[in-house]
Amino acid sequence: MRLLVTGGAGFIGANFVNQTIVERPRTRIVILDKLTYAGNTASLAHSAERVDVVRGDVADAELVDRLVERADAVVHFAAESHNDNSLADPWPFVQTNIVGTYTLLQAVRRHDVRYHHVSTDEVYGDLAFDEPAFTPTTPYNPSSPYSASKASSDLLVRAWARSFGVRATISNCSNNYGPYQHVEKFIPRQITNLIDGVRPRLYGTGQQVRDWIHVEDHNRAVWEILERGRIGQTYLIGADAELDNLSVIRLLLAEFGRESDDFDHVTDRPGHDLRYAIDSTLLRDELGWQPRYSDFRAGLAATAAWYRAHESWWRHAKAATERTYAAAGEQVL
Ligand code: NAD
Ligand code: DAU
Repeated sequence: MRLLVTGGAGFIGANFVNQTIVERPRTRIVILDKLTYAGNTASLAHSAERVDVVRGDVADAELVDRLVERADAVVHFAAESHNDNSLADPWPFVQTNIVGTYTLLQAVRRHDVRYHHVSTDEVYGDLAFDEPAFTPTTPYNPSSPYSASKASSDLLVRAWARSFGVRATISNCSNNYGPYQHVEKFIPRQITNLIDGVRPRLYGTGQQVRDWIHVEDHNRAVWEILERGRIGQTYLIGADAELDNLSVIRLLLAEFGRESDDFDHVTDRPGHDLRYAIDSTLLRDELGWQPRYSDFRAGLAATAAWYRAHESWWRHAKAATERTYAAAGEQVL
């Protein structure tokens, strides 16, 4: 299979490519990535000789058309992905996540190429603590510019599938963790703070709940859907690992041998979603997918070990990321 992977130098995309090279060596991969601050070709060091990386924008119609024409399938990971950045400047989210998806959809429509759209559980908004988990029929209700842009892109995919017969599937996944995640995100930010002897930073009270999944489990689900998913179907991906942010910080403090109160409460995120939770019954029953990382504590410890062993991968981004948070007004409460 000739696969075009957009955003293949980002966190989930790079893990997808690295896994595919090992587990499906006959797949020929071309990556289209703009190499924004979030893209890093060092994440692809082990795959470098087996993939072609094209530096470019998913909203560049001429380039996208040329690459899609030569592919059997497209897996679309590329996005602006960080909620906090979308609050500071929403425009790149509209441009990349909405216009970029439109551009890809027009190309796969023209060339009748199979398309898988990687999306997020955040399109459904947030849940009260006692509400049932999201399902594929939960109404869309996004809260932030990021989640609104992802919701918009999902709706474009649904329309192109129905109106133009594009052979598309969508997956909405919960919070990923694992190697190669940018240090702006919650878990790597705290791990690298702890490595540096700096106190972890918890937004507000830390009562917000996220449903954690290891990135390799997410990517195995993407492959199942790409190969055996029903065209036009939305699949939710989650590993049943709901945990509040305070508990995650305490697990990390314990992992680093620090006291359980050795962290700072900082300014909360405006509009902060309270809880996400995924019901992945359809994916499990229909496609037989199961997460392999069923022990979140063990997965977190392995992730901390990875960041300890790969300081050269993240160090260059750490200070700049912390300056961005400070410039956005983050303060210790
Ligand atoms: P990331 O920010 O780590 O990587 C995004 C990649 O896209 C980067 O390599 C970046 O250079 C590239 N990119 C950005 N704009 C581009 C453009 N205009 N053209 C081409 N490439 C561009 O993101 P991630 O965490 O790996 O997320 C990947 C996808 O998965 C996104 O669509 C995101 O919405 C979705 N998702 C993420 C999570 C999560 O927990 N991280 C969970 C569910 C879904
Ligand atoms: O649910 C899937 C989504 O998960 C993806 O669509 C997004 O691309 C991905 O970034 C992630 O979104 P979140 O906003 O949930 O992830 P983030 O890592 O930014 O934050 C996780 C939680 O931790 C959230 O409740 C905010 C909190 N937080 C975050 C940071 C960076 C802190 O308490 N302290 C922090 O320093």
